[in-house]
Amino acid sequence: MVSERMLKALNEQLNRELYSAYLYFAMAAYFEDMNLEGFANWMKAQAEEELGHALRFYNYIYDRNGRVELMEIQKPPKEWESPLAAFEAAYEHEKFISNSINELAALAEEEKDYATRAFLEWFINEQVEEEASVKKVLDKLKFAKDSPQVLFMLDQELGQRAPKLPALLIPQGE
Ligand code: FEO
Repeated sequence: MVSERMLKALNEQLNRELYSAYLYFAMAAYFEDMNLEGFANWMKAQAEEELGHALRFYNYIYDRNGRVELMEIQKPPKEWESPLAAFEAAYEHEKFISNSINELAALAEEEKDYATRAFLEWFINEQVEEEASVKKVLDKLKFAKDSPQVLFMLDQELGQRAPKLPALLIPQGE
């Protein structure tokens, strides 16, 4: 059993992961409207990963005999000034999530909740990857500036990203 304080913090993180999925679906829709299908694909894969993160928190709360409490999910923005602005926002968001995972880990240590601290290890490592993958695209967009050719090439590249679908999200029979 986790403490009330820890349970509240885990439920809040579950909400942040669901919001992350919302944010990336919103960015995917923004790219669909621009006919940048590769960018949209990348964002959808990102959103699916976020649902997987949410599911990890959901399952962990029950593994520790807690109660999932779903909260209102904030409405994400609909538009960004440019693909670069969208990726800048994504990068800022991932840094915010890394910080919130670190705060959760600090709380687990403070409470001597070593099981939760161990559970969070996966997320600490995942956030390094999350920040790096967004930053990689961001740097390429900065390099592209306003070149439609480079943007087109990047769109082709991002179209290659295959989602690491959580098992629960894979339709049966596939
Ligand atoms: Fe679940 Fe992108 O952090």
